[in-house]
Amino acid sequence: MLLAAEDEERGPELYLRDLAARHGQRQLDIGARLYDLWLDSLLDTVRQCDPECSDEVLEAWERVMAVGVRYLLRHYRKPPPSSLWKPSSA
Ligand code: HEM
Repeated sequence: MLLAAEDEERGPELYLRDLAARHGQRQLDIGARLYDLWLDSLLDTVRQCDPECSDEVLEAWERVMAVGVRYLLRHYRKPPPSSLWKPSSA
C-alpha cells in the first residue's frame, strides 16, 4: 500500500490491480459504504495499539489508505479482461 501510495498516477495500477478485482463487484462485492466503516475501524485500531498515536499519525494512515480506497472503488465495476468478456446478448 505504501508503494502504491508513493505515486498515485502509476502505483495503484502496478500494485493493486489484483486486489481491486478481488474486492470488486464480481468477487467480494465490497461497496463504497464498507470502506468508510473499514477506515474508521482501522483508525480506531491505530488509536488503541500505537502508543505514539497522534493526529499526525492518523492523518498519515488516512492519506496512504485513501489512495488504495480510491483505486479499489474506481475499479469496483470494472469488467474482466477482454479475452474473458462475453456480452450476454451475443
Ligand atoms: C484499501 C482498502 C483495503 C485493502 C488494502 C485490503 C486488503 C486486502 C487483502 C490484502 C486481502 C487478501 C487478498 C487475497 O487473499 O487475495 C483482502 C481480502 C479481503 N478483504 Fe480487503 N482490503 C481493503 C478493504 C476492504 C474492505 C472495505 C472490506 C470490507 C469491509 C474488505 C473485505 C475483505 C474480505 C472479505 C477479504 C477476503 C478475506 C478471505 O479471503 O478470507 N476489504 N483485503
